[in-house]
Amino acid sequence: MANSRRLAVLLVTMVTLTCLCGALPITEEPLLLTPYIEAGNLTAAVKACKVVDPCNDSNPEEDCGTKIPESYAGFLTVNKTLGNNLFFWYFPSQVKDNAPLLLYLNGGPGYSSMVGLLWGNGPLQPRNSSHNVSGKFEARNGSWLGPFSLLYIDNPVFTGYSYSSSGPRTTQEEYGDDLYEFLQQFYKLFPHLLSIDLYIGGASYAGKYIPVLAHKVHSSLQKNQTDIPLRGIYLGGPLFAPEVMFPENFEYLYNVGVISGYERTTLQKKTQAFVNEYLADKMGPVDTIKKIIPVIFKSKIPSYNNYVTGTKTDLNKIKAIMKSKRIRRALHVGNLDYSSSNDTLFKQFLSDIMSSTKDKLGDLLNASSYKVLIFSGDSDVVVSVAMVEAALLATPWSGRDDYRNSSRTMWYGQPTSGEKNGTLYGYYSHTGKLCRVVVRGAGHSTAHDQLARSREMMVQFVQNGCVGEKR
Ligand SMILES: *[C@@H]1O[C@H](CO)[C@@H](O)[C@H](O)[C@H]1NC(C)=O
Ligand SMILES: *[C@@H]1O[C@H](CO)[C@@H](O)[C@H](O)[C@H]1NC(C)=O
Ligand SMILES: *[C@@H]1O[C@H](CO)[C@@H](O)[C@H](O)[C@H]1NC(C)=O
Ligand SMILES: *[C@@H]1O[C@H](CO)[C@@H](O)[C@H](O)[C@H]1NC(C)=O
Ligand SMILES: *[C@@H]1O[C@H](CO)[C@@H](O)[C@H](O)[C@H]1NC(C)=O
Ligand SMILES: *[C@@H]1O[C@H](CO)[C@@H](O)[C@H](O)[C@H]1NC(C)=O
Ligand SMILES: *[C@@H]1O[C@H](CO)[C@@H](O)[C@H](O)[C@H]1NC(C)=O
Ligand SMILES: *[C@@H]1O[C@H](CO)[C@@H](O)[C@H](O)[C@H]1NC(C)=O
Ligand SMILES: *[C@@H]1O[C@H](CO)[C@@H](O)[C@H](O)[C@H]1NC(C)=O
Ligand SMILES: *[C@@H]1O[C@H](CO)[C@@H](O)[C@H](O)[C@H]1NC(C)=O
Ligand SMILES: *[C@@H]1O[C@H](CO)[C@@H](O)[C@H](O)[C@H]1NC(C)=O
Repeated sequence: MANSRRLAVLLVTMVTLTCLCGALPITEEPLLLTPYIEAGNLTAAVKACKVVDPCNDSNPEEDCGTKIPESYAGFLTVNKTLGNNLFFWYFPSQVKDNAPLLLYLNGGPGYSSMVGLLWGNGPLQPRNSSHNVSGKFEARNGSWLGPFSLLYIDNPVFTGYSYSSSGPRTTQEEYGDDLYEFLQQFYKLFPHLLSIDLYIGGASYAGKYIPVLAHKVHSSLQKNQTDIPLRGIYLGGPLFAPEVMFPENFEYLYNVGVISGYERTTLQKKTQAFVNEYLADKMGPVDTIKKIIPVIFKSKIPSYNNYVTGTKTDLNKIKAIMKSKRIRRALHVGNLDYSSSNDTLFKQFLSDIMSSTKDKLGDLLNASSYKVLIFSGDSDVVVSVAMVEAALLATPWSGRDDYRNSSRTMWYGQPTSGEKNGTLYGYYSHTGKLCRVVVRGAGHSTAHDQLARSREMMVQFVQNGCVGEKR
């Protein structure tokens, strides 16, 4: 969300200080896989996009540290006319042949999904070092890789390494079309995945992208036009009904004492008035969000990521890793520019921010054939628990009344010896297909703050439809 804007402003244009001594300069072009797919040359395509770490035992002078796990990366051309190319990095599980595939999208808008990989749930993380621009990485223990295969896509174009020879794709229809075309080609490239369960998910502004993409897949499945094995969706701290979520923004701030009762009331009223004008078609979406942003983002907050710990996503570290020569060569991105958070794109997205995906989410819930996980960190101040609750109660689906009347259950980890209950991981309710989870001790980047809890949550959700229930 808008904190990405602030952070983006802070981004200094920097040149990575790393150098793979002895490595050749990067001369390769970005690897476009669509021509291979169109020629039916799948073996060559898979071989071409296999990630080959240029830092290996043949050049031992370099401290390679962690090896990159088996993975595949490259670009799929999702709209030829527009020259739209989406970048992906796919990690197959090494421990389970039929591990479900989790597609992961970051939000922003304009946030690279590689931020979610390196700062959240992926098998690699920035190497602990005082140099934030070292561009070095190490293995993340306990990542989501293993019980799952992971697919990260930089979406939409101009996010991360994804690019276009024309303009940005800023409407639900536009980014939905690009993502859907991506999936169709991806399954041509890896056809064995058609028999593996797929879960589409991600965080924050991906609360727009995920229901849009899943809904397109759902519509095609209903028309027998695709075999994409969609089994569920998962959304972390998602923005999907801004018209009810923004006015609710002040609840958390009031509860932790950032604002007074007077401020809560007046700021809420002010925001609601802007929203009402928007809903009555008296104010356009761009003017509305421009009025709302300064009201809801308060400078006194230590961090929008995790209010309690004050932790911030270090976008500089992510950028340094993704732009390092080693990673560039391994991922076949040539000399393309990379942004961990694209501020220009964010501004172009102002017209989409007020748009809602709650009807699409409602449709997916009504269909009753998909598991749906909506989780929040209890210290998330950017898309707080209260905001998500308001959005869920505004989402039209057959189980809405049941959800409104539901109670929460405590969710405990496995007890260790001598413990009666395990650690309190969080709280949940399971209503029809909807699994609602609040993770204790986490902010907006739930996996970064509570990796083990987030992984356990995903495992239980995929196995049982929700956490805390019988295995
Ligand atoms: C497949 O791609 C490889 C590598 O680009 C090429 O050598 C080969 O001729 C292609 N085969 C076909 C049938 O297109
Ligand atoms: C080691 O890296 C070099 C490039 O730095 C590459 O040509 C070679 O194939 C790699 N070897 C292995 C075993 O991956
Ligand atoms: C490419 O985008 C244009 C403009 O949105 C659209 O009309 C066209 O159908 C798209 N092509 C494909 C193959 O999706
Ligand atoms: C990471 O580095 C900082 C100082 O650079 C140090 O205080 C901290 O203990 C290190 N953490 C780990 C897990 O090694
Ligand atoms: C290191 O990161 C901090 C903020 O996290 C930033 O202010 C600083 O400019 C960065 N240093 C370099 C050399 O990029
Ligand atoms: C990785 O995590 C597991 C489970 O949390 C733990 O048992 C193991 O010791 C960890 N390994 C390393 C190298 O930290
Ligand atoms: C799709 O296929 C199923 C079984 O193959 C069939 O029962 C159903 O009528 C088809 N739906 C459409 C819209 O063609
Ligand atoms: C950011 O997005 C703009 C278009 O919105 C694009 O021109 C620019 O190249 C992007 N920046 C990067 C680093 O990709
Ligand atoms: C879902 O079903 C309910 C009735 O059970 C209906 O009111 C609602 O409009 C449906 N939602 C959508 C998005 O079609
Ligand atoms: C929800 O609770 C209200 C008030 O107790 C009750 O009137 C209503 O019937 C309940 N709805 C459902 C679906 O249980
Ligand atoms: C242990 O869990 C049970 C069942 O959720 C709960 O009723 C009980 O209060 C818990 N005890 C403690 C000490 O947390």
